[in-house]
Amino acid sequence: MEVLEKIEKRNNNESVTWPSAPYPSTAEAIKLNIIHHLMSFQGRDPERSGARDVYKALAYTIRDLMVQKWISTQKTFYAKKKKRVYYLSLEFLIGRSLGNSITNLGITQDVKQAVEALGFDIDEVRDQEEDAALGNGGLGRLAACFMDSIATLKIPAYGYGIRYEYGLFFQQLVDGYQVEGPDNWLQNGTPWEFERSLPLFKIQFFGNVTSYQDENGRYRARWVNTKDVMAKASDIMIPGYKNDHVINMRLWSAFSSRELDLGDFSRGDYIGAVESKVSSETISKVLYPPDHNYAGQELRLKQQYFFVAATFQDIMRRYKKKHVTFDQFTDRVAVQLNDTHPSIAIPELMRLLLDIEGLSWEQAWKITVNTFGYTNHTLMPEALERWPVEMMGRVLPRHLQIIYEINQRFLNEVAERYPGNQQKLRQMSIIEEGPVKMVRMAHLAIIGSHSVNGVAELHSQLLKNRIFPDFHNFYPGRFNSKTNGITPRRWLLDINESLAGLISSRIGDRWVTDLDQLRGLEKFLDDEEFCTGWREIKYANKKRLAGYIKTKCGVVVDPSTMFDIQVKRIHEYKRQLLNALHLINLYQRIIRGEAQGRAPRTAVFAGKAAPSYWRAKLIIKLITSIGEVVNNDPRVKDRLKVVFLPNYNVSQAEIVMPAADLSEQISTAGTEASGTGNMKFALNGALTIGTLDGANIEIREEVGEENIFIFGLSAEEAEFERKNCSRTPRQVCRENESINNIMAALRSGSFSGGNTELFKPLVDSLMDENDPYLLLLDLESYIDCQNRVSDAFLQPEKWTRKAILNVARMGKFSTDRTIREYSEKIWGIPVE
Ligand code: IMP
Repeated sequence: MEVLEKIEKRNNNESVTWPSAPYPSTAEAIKLNIIHHLMSFQGRDPERSGARDVYKALAYTIRDLMVQKWISTQKTFYAKKKKRVYYLSLEFLIGRSLGNSITNLGITQDVKQAVEALGFDIDEVRDQEEDAALGNGGLGRLAACFMDSIATLKIPAYGYGIRYEYGLFFQQLVDGYQVEGPDNWLQNGTPWEFERSLPLFKIQFFGNVTSYQDENGRYRARWVNTKDVMAKASDIMIPGYKNDHVINMRLWSAFSSRELDLGDFSRGDYIGAVESKVSSETISKVLYPPDHNYAGQELRLKQQYFFVAATFQDIMRRYKKKHVTFDQFTDRVAVQLNDTHPSIAIPELMRLLLDIEGLSWEQAWKITVNTFGYTNHTLMPEALERWPVEMMGRVLPRHLQIIYEINQRFLNEVAERYPGNQQKLRQMSIIEEGPVKMVRMAHLAIIGSHSVNGVAELHSQLLKNRIFPDFHNFYPGRFNSKTNGITPRRWLLDINESLAGLISSRIGDRWVTDLDQLRGLEKFLDDEEFCTGWREIKYANKKRLAGYIKTKCGVVVDPSTMFDIQVKRIHEYKRQLLNALHLINLYQRIIRGEAQGRAPRTAVFAGKAAPSYWRAKLIIKLITSIGEVVNNDPRVKDRLKVVFLPNYNVSQAEIVMPAADLSEQISTAGTEASGTGNMKFALNGALTIGTLDGANIEIREEVGEENIFIFGLSAEEAEFERKNCSRTPRQVCRENESINNIMAALRSGSFSGGNTELFKPLVDSLMDENDPYLLLLDLESYIDCQNRVSDAFLQPEKWTRKAILNVARMGKFSTDRTIREYSEKIWGIPVE
């Protein structure tokens, strides 16, 4: 059929199918396409192209393969009139896309052959890709894993976020200190995105609100005199695993509105016009690092609103293509808020329904609550977002009005339920009274959503009992739990090819989309060939990491030692310091000749500290300083090495995870919402040393307590200790000589060239009776537990058995399971 005929059919609302991909996925065709892209799009002579050129040309080739599938996927959404999910997240920590896309398209071997035929090595080509570091840590990486599972489960969904020009900062270590640099990941462009000149949306800021009565005599508001910014979309395709289903992540960039520019130009203010253009574009310039307090940062609020407003214009545009009224809105649209960051969406949807669509408050509110689900990600009270009322009123005046109205109506209900209880009203209000009035975004998100979920069982319990008990009582049933997961495509199949191969050789490859299948591995615990193969693979992965460590840190480590690894953001609650204290203890024992018969260790750290979090940065300096001393002390030899890898990101994690023997998950119980690093390590055959915190509890339930090393206070005990101080750090030091020695070494400057001041703030916090993270109270039990780990590691057969059991019992922690639960229980979309 000719194209014109098809267009006519389409105009008559008939379904048409376009010819299948002009780029078939055989090795030969892939090679020809790489050459075509090298020449036509990059203007390169194939003979003189380097690995970077080939990477780009290959990426374009892969994108060609995906776009056809994307179009037919989108058409199916329309044809089947499906309910769509919009996953709103300020962060998508995607990392690299090439390897994952090739794996999911099922063309790994063909691509390898094609690249080899051109004289390149696929690993070298893969290494050319910049990480898309559009996230800070767990929350952003979860969003990226969710996209993979959503595509694999064929759920009609979209990810929506911001196309930051600068991702999370680049971390260098200078003299052992963290130094931040810009992450200019778009410097050479990215081959993965489709820039869309349409749709283009106008986003309003500032201005004021006027009111009028409509023809039915109803109050209507108009937001006027605004300063506007335009939002432009870029789409990144996400393929499901071998299922021809491709979804997209739509990321918004800001640029100046033409009207504004023309106004300034016509007044002759050329420079002013250019300046306003630049200032509009700063909105999508940079990802905010995880600071304690965003409250004063107007640009962050503008980012949040910018992305939410653009997304909702897109949602409305799509909905209105097929619907005239809003009766079916909640049958067609579900929106999930990844933390409170996008929660300004609640008053935004109200504004659209009230001011633009003319619905009544009651109609609009019913739709809004039924549309939103809110996922909470933190137990740290200081991380709950609050915005100064004054700022909200200035930047988003209409939204502040709506928030006040939501609050008034909500508080009326509370007052009815608890007559005369002023304290309840104060506690539950969206507005926090005080010298600086604040809008509590978490309260807004809870009130405006039909579902509020935590990300692990313990976390969800603590949300109900400790953080938001009033809301839990007020809205029984609204709170629920969805334990996080990871995608097994990236975090095993892609990054640990040999282990994935060994597993598939025994149980087939259905585990890739049905992770519970890994249980089948338990049959091979006594299969010597299998266990030896397992150990050889771990050794090879450790050798690769050892090479990487040599390149990045200049330190030679022995792959036969225990690789004891803690990689995650640097934060006091995650207690990298506890790990460091144990290493000092180990060092002291080695020097005293008391470490005979203990397993030699290589301790590896990596992670970024928020630029303004000086105490976390001092912890990095302590770790690098311990490394300096330990690695250069000839008495230590290979018994202990301590390294800190600079610039932790997704692609570094992909080298680190498969190489770990021991995974450190040692946050103070009751502080870590879930953790997902714990799952990535375990899925790659590391054993966990951890507290009863976050998802560690569920990992223990799954793998069995004999296959995990648990220590320290429980969440309840930690809470009790915080309130009652039944044992002080001073007492611990008096009663435990080893711990006293550790503290003495820190005080005397053993790791700071005799400088007794440098680490004093850390010593002071450790000795503080009110240390909220209870380090010294857990240290004794941690050291004992590490000794048990050491004993276990010296029995390689038993260790391997435990490692296999860990992998075999990881089924629960696939994001396929997590997403199925979100889809069926929160979004109301059955999974096929
Ligand atoms: P959007 O949903 O408008 O963002 O469009 C995304 C893709 O969906 C388009 O590129 C089309 O391939 C497809 N699409 C858009 N509108 C329709 C429709 O009305 N019917 C069928 N497919 C559509």
